Amino acid sequence: MDMNLDVNGKLTALQVMQDAPVIPVIVLSDVGQAVLLARALVAGGIRMLEVTLRTPQALSCIEAIARDVPEAVVGAGTVRSAADAQACAMAGARFVVSPGYTHALGQACRDAGLPLLPGVATGSEIMAAQEDGLSELKFFPAMQAGGQAMLKAWGGPFGDVRFCPTGGINAANAPEFLALPNVVCVGGSWLTPADVMARGNWSQVTALAHQACRLARPS
Ligand code: 3PG
Repeated sequence: MDMNLDVNGKLTALQVMQDAPVIPVIVLSDVGQAVLLARALVAGGIRMLEVTLRTPQALSCIEAIARDVPEAVVGAGTVRSAADAQACAMAGARFVVSPGYTHALGQACRDAGLPLLPGVATGSEIMAAQEDGLSELKFFPAMQAGGQAMLKAWGGPFGDVRFCPTGGINAANAPEFLALPNVVCVGGSWLTPADVMARGNWSQVTALAHQACRLARPS
């Protein structure tokens, strides 16, 4: 965690990626759980939180975290359109993660002043994002689309791109990704398992976050 980072100030995508080795991918369907979960992750050292727009309650959850957990930096995930980006900006999201990239989404995030970490899985998608000025990208779905071998191959032609691989990553395989020079952090849902959330076992979430913070990153 970068203790010098002003979590209330404007952030870049790189700052979002650099704050911890893992960005948790979170699915919330209960606003009551949102604040408790966010506090549990922050207690474990993870403050960049990606709340996915996959439930009807997601925007309310983002709003609640933005309002009640000032030590967290809540972002929105699964953002797929300009309208999504505008809605999550209104809800108080501070960054945006998307499963793919479109020019319209890039423009909407720029207009809203939100850093965007867009998903890419091919060279053409990387080039489209770079054309719009984005060089910090999410590699999604990482395991399914080629894993570490793909990132190594991209290191040649796309040596100026830094990645956050997400999809199929867990505590066991995260170190292999984090050891790659073009990987800044990884994303994953393993810090917030559905059964642990359903039981409200927040100390377990904090323990998983602590463990994630101890994962090594390239220096
Ligand atoms: C997702 O789409 O849910 C994210 O990529 C997380 O994937 P994971 O559950 O494999 O970590």
